[in-house]
Amino acid sequence: MSASPKLEGKIVLVTGAAKRIGREIALRLASEGARVALHYGESREEAERTAAECGGAELFQADLESVPQIRRLFEQVRQRCGGLDGLVNNAARFTRFNVLEIEENDWDYVHSVNLKATFFCCQSAARMMQPGGRIVNISSLGGLRPWAEHVHYCASKAGVIMLTKALSKALAPGITVNTVAPGVIPFGESDERIEAMVRATPMQRAGKGSEIADAVVYFLTCPDFITGQLLAVTGGLEHR
Ligand SMILES: NC(=O)c1ccc[n+]([C@@H]2O[C@H](COP(=O)([O-])OP(=O)(O)OC[C@H]3O[C@@H](n4cnc5c(N)ncnc54)[C@H](OP(=O)(O)O)[C@@H]3O)[C@@H](O)[C@H]2O)c1
Repeated sequence: MSASPKLEGKIVLVTGAAKRIGREIALRLASEGARVALHYGESREEAERTAAECGGAELFQADLESVPQIRRLFEQVRQRCGGLDGLVNNAARFTRFNVLEIEENDWDYVHSVNLKATFFCCQSAARMMQPGGRIVNISSLGGLRPWAEHVHYCASKAGVIMLTKALSKALAPGITVNTVAPGVIPFGESDERIEAMVRATPMQRAGKGSEIADAVVYFLTCPDFITGQLLAVTGGLEHR
């Protein structure tokens, strides 16, 4: 794929980019000519490998549960990259619980990263960005459809969708904020529930990380009249 002139030289931070969807996004942005700032939490080796494959992306470690560490992350991006043009909030947690058994720490484990960190990363980015800045939040089909064993996760991702809409108003006209909602995007893992969801998907297959990256590139390069929008990359599953 040839480089997009719109992304050439743009500094884009991708959170949780060591592996899986985040890695696919980082590799794609690098292939489009962006200067990727690659964040990771614990997956240092995978992050180093992905950064090398991105042509030597700058690496940043932070535990996104911690707002002070989020502040430090963005300060380091400012110092080492000299600014920020785009942010892709990809990092998240996913757990499964019987709703009657979930405890406060189980709720906080998911919400501290999926919703709270997404907000504080958006805020930190917005403080740094010049007019023309772009934010893409990765939400989920689970923020659109109710899943009985993932009530806490669904609530966090529905929160990301509304956060995106509200921020798009708050940060206009300088910065666009949009969200990509992936459907089933497995990386080798498979169980009965995943297989059932794939069978229910109108397109009759699972999605690929590269297809999430396509949607992210779209929001990073589209007209700035497109803001506060959700793009579901689900093979149509939310309509079942
Ligand atoms: N895969 C799917 O089928 C699917 C479906 C719907 C939505 N999504 C969404 O798409 C995005 C990527 O999905 P994925 O399956 O590739 O994600 P994932 O592997 O579960 O998580 C991505 C990364 O998030 C980082 N992370 C989590 N907690 C963190 C923390 N406290 N501090 C720093 N980093 C943290 C981890 O980085 P380290 O490994 O470096 O610690 C992890 O590698 C997520 O927002 C997810 O909710 C995925």
